[in-house]
Amino acid sequence: MCGIVGYVGWRSVQDVVVGGLRKLEYRGYDSAGIAALAGGQVCAVKSVGRLANLEARLAAQPLDGSVGIGHTRWATHGRPSDENAHPHLDCGGRFAIVHNGIVENYLTLRAELLQRGHVFQSETDTEVIAHLMEELYDGDLVSTTLNVVRRIRGAYALVVLHRDDPERLIAVRRSSPLVIGLGQGEQFIASDIPAILEYTRDVYVLDDGELAVVRRDGVECFTLSGEPVNKQPFHVTWDAVAAERGGYAHFMLKEIHEQPRAIRDTLTGRVADDHARVILPELNWSPEVAAGIRRIHIVACGTAWHAGLVGKAVLEQLVRIPVEVDIASEYRYRDVIAPEGTLVMVISQSGETADTLAALRAAKARGNRVLAITNVVGSSVAREADDVIVTWAGPEIAVASTKAYTTQLVALYLFATYLAQERGMLRGDEVRALLTALDSLPQAAEQVLDTAPQIQQFARRYAGVHDTFFIGRGLDYPLALEGALKLKEISYIHAEAYAAGELKHGTLALVTDGVPVIALVTQTHLYDKTLSNIKEVKARGAYVLGLTFVGDEQLAESVDEVIYLPRTLPLVAPAVAVIPLQLLAYYAAVERGNDVDKPRNLAKSVTVE
Ligand code: G6P
Repeated sequence: MCGIVGYVGWRSVQDVVVGGLRKLEYRGYDSAGIAALAGGQVCAVKSVGRLANLEARLAAQPLDGSVGIGHTRWATHGRPSDENAHPHLDCGGRFAIVHNGIVENYLTLRAELLQRGHVFQSETDTEVIAHLMEELYDGDLVSTTLNVVRRIRGAYALVVLHRDDPERLIAVRRSSPLVIGLGQGEQFIASDIPAILEYTRDVYVLDDGELAVVRRDGVECFTLSGEPVNKQPFHVTWDAVAAERGGYAHFMLKEIHEQPRAIRDTLTGRVADDHARVILPELNWSPEVAAGIRRIHIVACGTAWHAGLVGKAVLEQLVRIPVEVDIASEYRYRDVIAPEGTLVMVISQSGETADTLAALRAAKARGNRVLAITNVVGSSVAREADDVIVTWAGPEIAVASTKAYTTQLVALYLFATYLAQERGMLRGDEVRALLTALDSLPQAAEQVLDTAPQIQQFARRYAGVHDTFFIGRGLDYPLALEGALKLKEISYIHAEAYAAGELKHGTLALVTDGVPVIALVTQTHLYDKTLSNIKEVKARGAYVLGLTFVGDEQLAESVDEVIYLPRTLPLVAPAVAVIPLQLLAYYAAVERGNDVDKPRNLAKSVTVE
């Protein structure tokens, strides 16, 4: 997600901040900016695009001073542009704000502030914070910041600079990461350690709900209720490359572990507090639009196609309209029947996949309405679709998709519930049960990550095999497809996914002594059926690793090993159950010594046909 750098000290703020932002480039960004205190004024320079564009502007208009903040933006609210780049200023130009995360209630706050005469320069949620600082300023930067954060909802990291308080910066963390680098006569703020590693290895890692007052000569930390916090510095021993990966051995492992946060961010602002409604302001659909959809075509590639397969089952169950799912490279050349009333949904992490984009364009040319689910706000898919639901996974760097997939599922759950709700298909208690289950996904994802040591052991024992099978029924079948794809992509072990009931029509011939079979058993209504299929493979000598919910004591009797998932609604189970499969692929690839983040022959974004 966005990168933040702040500096209070004696060096050129421009050098420290731009240098720090460069170290955060790996996070991905679409625009950048810096604000510094110089000559008693807040001066800001911003530019859409690469850091080089910002540097070109700074060459023409250098920023003096040794106090300032900078930011690389990954767009969420508002397209990438000079105006939407951070830092954001208030009307009087006294406050500058950089922010990573989402202000959930920004629309309400913006309306309130507009009414009080504030003038906005951007489309971002962040700008409300600058105006709110101006509105609530009581002469004390710390108490004003505390009052402002009490008014904003959501997950964020925030740094505030104030013209009239030039000796300090205020940093606040609620969910999004923020570290304070400790120096001599200088201090640093950053959303990630690599940005400051050149200057210091001693950092305070802010915890959720903490605020730091950062001065040249020291740092004080407080809770959001203003109580002092005594923090212990953390000494960083990682090298610069490991630091980019947050201490994880690979980006893929980091991204697997980011899933609780990514799911939470994708849900943020989209589920009413009482779990009674889905709110998707980005759709802004009239009741006629929602009512006019008669069928849906979902089009995507790779992992995103697997998300689409889950989406089909969820949409059909909740909305009761027919849904087709197509691989984009097939769809674009197929004689598609898509009469009026067909909604075409494209799913793409990057928003640049050539086949998906071509399918989108063909759908638009036919006159179909196109809804995109994508992770990149300024992407081609996002720009050309009629409607966009953004997944807030943040940049995904490893070629094998993990957090993008789980957030695509979350977006699909939200959309299916929204459509069902708008068409009056669900009772209040059904919506509540679904949204409560969605809301507990981040916690469930957190718990399921604890299965890593067990999976690592399994992977160690089985990394030498040539073939493996993933089986499941209902929603466990697309889950099996995704598990098999992950394993193939990075471990290069041949893996096949089968609808468990289909095995006996051919594939069972390949199941012999010791062949590992991963049996997915999260769909309660199909439990007995899958169990019979497990018995079929066991009888042929397979070594079966089962995946089921905690509390299921029966499965252990029929398989060799069980991984237990926290209990959740079977409909949302794929978003949690995929995590052990990602870990399995990861550990198998590591065991085989493969280049996990950049597997052979594959690319992150396939922009050619
Ligand atoms: C490539 C990536 C996959 C991804 C697919 C679709 O094959 O390696 O991880 O699922 O493209 O990409 P998209 O960006 O459209 O989701």
